[in-house]
Amino acid sequence: MSNRLPLENMDLFYNRRKNIAQKNYGSAIIVASQPEPGFYGSHSTFRQNSNLYYLTGFEEPESILVFRPGMTPETVLFTRKKDKEKETWDGFRFGPEGVETHYKIDKAYTIDEFEKQTVQLLKGVDKLYYRMFKNSMADKRVQTVLEDLRLSQGRTGYGLLPIYDADEFLGEFRLFKSDEELEIMRSACRISAEAHVEAMKNTRPDMNEKEIFNLITYEMFKRGATREGYNSIIAGGNNATTLHYVFNDCKLKSGELLLIDAGAEYRYYTGDITRTFPINGKFTDEQAIVYEGVLKIQKTIINYLKPGLPFKELHEMATSLLTDLMLELGLLSGRKADIISALEHKKYYPHGVGHWLGLDVHDAGLYYIKDQPRTIQPNMCFTIEPGLYIPEDDHMAPAKYRGIGIRIEDNIRLTTTGAEVMTTMAPKEIADLEKIIGSK
Ligand code: GLY
Ligand code: MN
Ligand code: MN
Repeated sequence: MSNRLPLENMDLFYNRRKNIAQKNYGSAIIVASQPEPGFYGSHSTFRQNSNLYYLTGFEEPESILVFRPGMTPETVLFTRKKDKEKETWDGFRFGPEGVETHYKIDKAYTIDEFEKQTVQLLKGVDKLYYRMFKNSMADKRVQTVLEDLRLSQGRTGYGLLPIYDADEFLGEFRLFKSDEELEIMRSACRISAEAHVEAMKNTRPDMNEKEIFNLITYEMFKRGATREGYNSIIAGGNNATTLHYVFNDCKLKSGELLLIDAGAEYRYYTGDITRTFPINGKFTDEQAIVYEGVLKIQKTIINYLKPGLPFKELHEMATSLLTDLMLELGLLSGRKADIISALEHKKYYPHGVGHWLGLDVHDAGLYYIKDQPRTIQPNMCFTIEPGLYIPEDDHMAPAKYRGIGIRIEDNIRLTTTGAEVMTTMAPKEIADLEKIIGSK
């Protein structure tokens, strides 16, 4: 049985925890892994809960971290015990000893000790950060701990420990990327972009979406990706008008566009790129008009980015500019303000302009803070992804535009003055696309 080593240098997680600890003495944070998928399931690879990974770098299922800023021991990890027979079937486990040796964790126990030890660990703590999930086994275990703790303290005025939302709490740290995280994210973006370029080079009429799906996945893995950041969308022609198209199994037809929304996960961080291009390598006049319209809007929003803007304003900007485009193309008619207030634009642009990006494709972090729209600040990472989708059965739309679905999505880091676009290696100008498509 081969030993494994942690993916990263543990100082990354140790320093991160120190930073969180400094401002949160007196609290405890409990983060659990999510259940392991069965081996025979369709999504059978386990991925660590992003918060647990963020705090520990530890990748095994059936693990729970108890983190007590400023106390000794400060970090306690519960995990599966070593088990020769189980490891023969399912592979290597670190076990508590391995965790203490390799993960810069103060103390580790087997998972079956969780309740007993944690009751003791929470004594003297004045608030607990924890996120409940429906049907989670960890919830039952934490509930047992909290009840036992309350009972053990008798009627001494402490009562039940108050619970605050760990995901919101940790999300506020995750939203601002450190230099180390940015380096990893740039790699995730580069790998994603290069895989898109390979897909463009290899696309030809009459291929199946599945071939491109496999090709782009292979090109990501070849460059060091761990997995896809989310289910890739490989959508030819009218399929692109289904936002979360999952089938990826149709024939690519000459004369139609191909929308690819795919991102590589690299060292737990993900890219999220969408490109749309003609399957036969040449935009028709109608496709070019719609494409240029969306591209211009995407570039306008990216050029507008600067610290202090409410993220909500970017949504409104996209809605306003895309509604102008819908009016220009004759998709809608009437007064722009009326269209927007009646949400008629949603017929052709039903999603938002983007989302935070990081360990999760729709990454942690608030968009509103107690009803106040949040502003974007340096070292936040997010996507900008306007799109326009005109279904082929939309008899209200001009016939020449039906069946065209376009989205253009890049990954941004905000700097002190504007945007660092981390996904520029994937071309999006018409001339560049036409040069590259089918060139292999
Ligand atoms: N790929 C999912 C998204 O763009 O939000
Ligand atoms: Mn996205
Ligand atoms: Mn996407």
